[in-house]
Amino acid sequence: MKLGEEIDVFIENLDHSGRGVARIDGLPIFIFNALPNEEVKIKITSVKKKYAEGEVLKIYKKSKDRIEPICPYFKECGGCDLLHLNYDNQLKYKMKKVEEIMHKFASVKENKIKEILPSEDNFNYRNKVTLKVKDNKIGYYKRKTNQLIEIDSCFLAHPKLNEIISDIKETLNLKNIEEIILRVSETTLETMMILKIKDKIDERKLIRDYTDKISTIVTYMDRKYDLVMGKGHIAEILSKYRYKISPESFFQVNTKGAVKLYDKVVEYADLDGTETVLDLFCGTGTIGIYVSEFAKEVIGIEINKYAVLDAYENVSKNEIKNASFLCKSAKDATTTEKGDVVIVDPPRSGLEKETIKFLLETEPKKIVYVSCDPVTLARDIKLLDKKYDICKITPVDMFPNTEHVECVTLLNLNNN
Ligand SMILES: C[S@@+](CC[C@H](N)C(=O)[O-])C[C@H]1O[C@@H](n2cnc3c(N)ncnc32)[C@H](O)[C@@H]1O
Repeated sequence: MKLGEEIDVFIENLDHSGRGVARIDGLPIFIFNALPNEEVKIKITSVKKKYAEGEVLKIYKKSKDRIEPICPYFKECGGCDLLHLNYDNQLKYKMKKVEEIMHKFASVKENKIKEILPSEDNFNYRNKVTLKVKDNKIGYYKRKTNQLIEIDSCFLAHPKLNEIISDIKETLNLKNIEEIILRVSETTLETMMILKIKDKIDERKLIRDYTDKISTIVTYMDRKYDLVMGKGHIAEILSKYRYKISPESFFQVNTKGAVKLYDKVVEYADLDGTETVLDLFCGTGTIGIYVSEFAKEVIGIEINKYAVLDAYENVSKNEIKNASFLCKSAKDATTTEKGDVVIVDPPRSGLEKETIKFLLETEPKKIVYVSCDPVTLARDIKLLDKKYDICKITPVDMFPNTEHVECVTLLNLNNN
């Protein structure tokens, strides 16, 4: 097989990144925008020792599950991997992906994986977008490169964010701006623009142009945020709780999805009001606050000091009396912060070995593990299975049209 060679192949299945897989003489070829059972002509775009990659030139036989991608940037943009697959089959794909990864890396049986919770919205669900700026243009990076594709709007972004994109394309002077982060609250519709800048920009013009259009604007330079306009934060409401979100604080990007996710955490934690809950990687205190009414006490641990400050304001605004937060790394948790039930929601990299050790030593009766990467989740639950039974895993589709899937897992301390 040679680079640039054009060949006809049959697509056998989808890999865990949403690419079609064909095989020639046993060598797998990974092909973006190809679906199982399709017959396609491809061009080989890279050849490695153990695999090759290709791009679709022509589809001879289409899958019955294929739909017309609605986005003009789909083939180039790195954002959506599954826009060409109908939503029912995206959900089936994500279920299968979680089952395969759990089976392969943690020997979890299929019956432990519960039905995936779908997203309420397939489009316009993102409350945050990060736009790159290059050569006086705004857009996303082309798949696997840092070449910019200019965009007018994004089908995954909330309509309010698309309105802002169209405004700033007309009026924002992009000189000295490297990146633009836009956030919106799905419930209060407050908006925030964070401009990552290389040098000073004309703040008076920003205020003049956007006072009626954006709730708050903040700049970021030399690792420092500066308020240009508005309150410097937005508020989001999940269930009965109101959360303050600062520019640098993590918040789930699919707001309605976050409610489903946290409801599943409440169900799996199954608290009786006597427990101390440790919320590791607590961000702005979102999950801890959500479960606080069912617990005796909540202790949150979070490394980002701005998120911890938000968490303290969030407990005060929501009049929650039984939650406190510590600003430090989860790996430095000590036995004084031990929980009867521990909720963990780490970044994609999963739990560090110190946190696994802490959990195995402190033996909470339950661990509820929220994860955005099934591979690191499987690695970690395999390490915890010395003392914990993997009871059930519910995948949650927080990211329609992409290959990503969130999971909530319940681990119970075993009786041996
Ligand atoms: C996936 S977010 C979850 C936040 C929160 N549970 C939520 O649902 O909004 C992961 C959080 O872990 C924090 N984090 C990253 N590394 C950490 C560490 N070593 N110790 C504690 N927190 C960490 C990040 O700042 C982020 O707020």
